[in-house]
Amino acid sequence: MLTIEELSVFCKKKGFVFPSTEIYGGMTGFFDYGPLGVELKNNLKSSWWKTFVSTREDVQGIDGTNISSGKIWEASGHLANFTDVLVQCKKCGKNQRADNLVEDVLKINVDGLNAEALSKIIQDNTIKCPECKGEFGEAKNFNLMFPVQLGAETTKDSTAFLRGETAQLIFANYKNIVDSGRVKLPFGIAQIGKAFRNEIAPRNFLFRQREFEQMELEFFVRPEDKKCPLLEKRQLELEFLFLSEKDQDAKQEHNKVKVSDLLAQGLLTEWHAYWLAESYLWFTELGVRKEHLRIRQHIKKELSHYSSATFDVEYKFAFGWKEIHGNANRGQFDLTQHQKFSGKSMEIFDEETKSKILPAVIEPSFGVDRAFLTLIADAYHDDKERGNIVLKLSPKIAPVQVGVFPLVNKLDEKTREVFNSLRKEFVCQFDRSGSIGRRYARADEIGIPFCVTVDFDTLNDHCVTVRDRDTTKQERVRIVDLKQYLTLRFGY
Ligand code: ATP
Ligand code: GLY
Repeated sequence: MLTIEELSVFCKKKGFVFPSTEIYGGMTGFFDYGPLGVELKNNLKSSWWKTFVSTREDVQGIDGTNISSGKIWEASGHLANFTDVLVQCKKCGKNQRADNLVEDVLKINVDGLNAEALSKIIQDNTIKCPECKGEFGEAKNFNLMFPVQLGAETTKDSTAFLRGETAQLIFANYKNIVDSGRVKLPFGIAQIGKAFRNEIAPRNFLFRQREFEQMELEFFVRPEDKKCPLLEKRQLELEFLFLSEKDQDAKQEHNKVKVSDLLAQGLLTEWHAYWLAESYLWFTELGVRKEHLRIRQHIKKELSHYSSATFDVEYKFAFGWKEIHGNANRGQFDLTQHQKFSGKSMEIFDEETKSKILPAVIEPSFGVDRAFLTLIADAYHDDKERGNIVLKLSPKIAPVQVGVFPLVNKLDEKTREVFNSLRKEFVCQFDRSGSIGRRYARADEIGIPFCVTVDFDTLNDHCVTVRDRDTTKQERVRIVDLKQYLTLRFGY
């Protein structure tokens, strides 16, 4: 299996992702997206927005600020509870995230253990600093929020924070949306944007960064509504690998289950089941292989301070099964807190029950960068027969959709004509350098689903050859039919 380091080298070489500020030595936990990366990232964000916002009647979007008042983060509980456990080496001074350190060295799951318990494990097992073999000091909590000083004066109110999750801007705006729109329960508010966490030890390329992007949806329901009318066969019969809290306690492996099994066992509510299924399906509909995905139930001790039940979608990376999506039942926690701290009512009038109610919330939370990493890792195929990498990205999100080549340079003019007409509809790349075989190989490596070649016959029969990236099959297509042919192949 391709290591995460090899994947990061590939991403840099092909122009997907670069280490940020590299000319000055780089900054751990920060990455910039290159020309192909930004296209792929934009495509995956549009796919998410289309699926979860613009094609739904019950979800609206917002775009909140990156910097927000400390009062929001005090109310949300992030200033008090948004912490990881840190240990510092007494010899070299390097900090480590205690849970990751113990998991790496002892290969055990320590999710949810506090600083005291982690300290004890580190001492009992004489775990030494991986950098210099020095001894560690006592473990302590470290807050992940980034403070920002506003203006020239330093007062308590001049300290604001970079947002640790996009969700809080949704809660802070929820009353504005209710008052300015015509929303009726149940409804959702969604947002795509940056989030910032002062991670103790960023690592594994895009997986753990200090600046990253989230795609989050807060779905507001009547707290007493146990039935979800949207739950249908598509969600109920969805089957996936599942690791329950019980399996984790008993150190068992994951099993194959259906959403309906989890509901029958009472592990989650109907609304939660619906959103968990929809979230999982977004990944598989973009082509991520089901055998590389699983859903893991959070054990009680690891639940975030706001959650009564959380299920992660995990991907099987080269460095293990890791969270790429979190799906939490936040209940009335956030609205209650904001009501308390702001002194403003967060209740809304519900037409159906003719009463004022404080909604409960289900939250599907996606990381853009972890989704990006998943899509690239899953699409990466080292094709020994072809002798090159084939990036089997779904045509829906491929950064370049069509490669257009002249068989020989003499055919440039005709090829340009075809290229110019296609690029009004598709993201196209014109490539005339090297042999045709090299051009196909280069197209495969960046995941171009279809390549169009103009040859000498084109001048007489007005047809071109279209090559399919995954099968390498070639078809002769009339130039006049080309747009329609490609539109059908893309499944628009
Ligand atoms: P982990 O346990 O790996 O630290 P988390 O539980 O802190 O993750 P959440 O708080 O559930 O993650 O965040 C929601 C989503 O935001 C995650 O599923 C992930 O996709 C993304 N995310 C969180 N932290 C980071 C990070 N440091 N870098 C990149 N993406 C992140
Ligand atoms: N909004 C969920 C999270 O960022 O943890």
